[in-house]
Amino acid sequence: MTDLDERAALRDLAEQLARQAGELVQRDRPARVAVTDTKSSATDVVTAMDRASEQLLSSQLLRLRPEDGLLGEEGTGRPGSSGLTWVVDPIDGTVNYAYGLPIYSVSVAVVTGDVAAAGAWRPVAGCVHNPASGETWTAAAGLGATLDGVPLTAPAPPAPDQALVGTGFGYQPAQRRRQAAVMAALLPQVRDVRRLGSAAVDLCLVACGRLDAYYEQGLNAWDLAAGMLVAREAGVTVSGLAGRPPGGPLVLAAGAPLHAALDALLTGLGADRLMD
Ligand code: IPD
Repeated sequence: MTDLDERAALRDLAEQLARQAGELVQRDRPARVAVTDTKSSATDVVTAMDRASEQLLSSQLLRLRPEDGLLGEEGTGRPGSSGLTWVVDPIDGTVNYAYGLPIYSVSVAVVTGDVAAAGAWRPVAGCVHNPASGETWTAAAGLGATLDGVPLTAPAPPAPDQALVGTGFGYQPAQRRRQAAVMAALLPQVRDVRRLGSAAVDLCLVACGRLDAYYEQGLNAWDLAAGMLVAREAGVTVSGLAGRPPGGPLVLAAGAPLHAALDALLTGLGADRLMD
């Protein structure tokens, strides 16, 4: 693990880059955002601004941190020699961005370990910036989390039946059917459910108490890395089910007692099973 000063400097750089990319995507957002490509399914869209934002992040990192690796949602990747890898989502919440809904973010994290394997990497520093709201969450491992520069401590969570729970859906129809079934079974047992559309923002909202919990199946490292660190540094437990590491099968974020209760509920519902 890097020393405190280095982690703070990495956090500040993550914030600087997320703000730069955020300014670009907001300033140059066309009145009608065209879909330039699709990825895993017809609903998994890419816009020109996803690519422009990733290009900006990639070129800045190459200039400023040439020895670090990079993994970007839109396909930019390079190995590094420093042991650090930047994991970036140039627009997390692309569908919201395309529709003009103000919940999307640029997520920039730097991690140690092997980003290709769940549980084999750890975020060192990160930033989630929502250009539409102007809000910026930052964190560095062991140094706490902030929202717009103000230190963040997650409030104590309520009982499960009073919990407002965020979730999200993947892009494959079969996976969505399964996710909808899990959500339908959970809904009568909690206060309500929200599907806001940016996993990175969802994790930060748990950190600042605007959601009591968040869970989702199918997240990638770029959806997760920065928001997970913000949540953890604010005191939120982030894991997979039954003590497993957070990753593709499931990510569950909530304050400790609620986390345990939702872990039991979601385990009972088989929320980390891919398909029936
Ligand atoms: C998506 C968002 C969404 C989540 C999906 C993600 P993208 O990221 O975070 O909230 O439900 O699982 O893929 O595609 O907009 O970068």
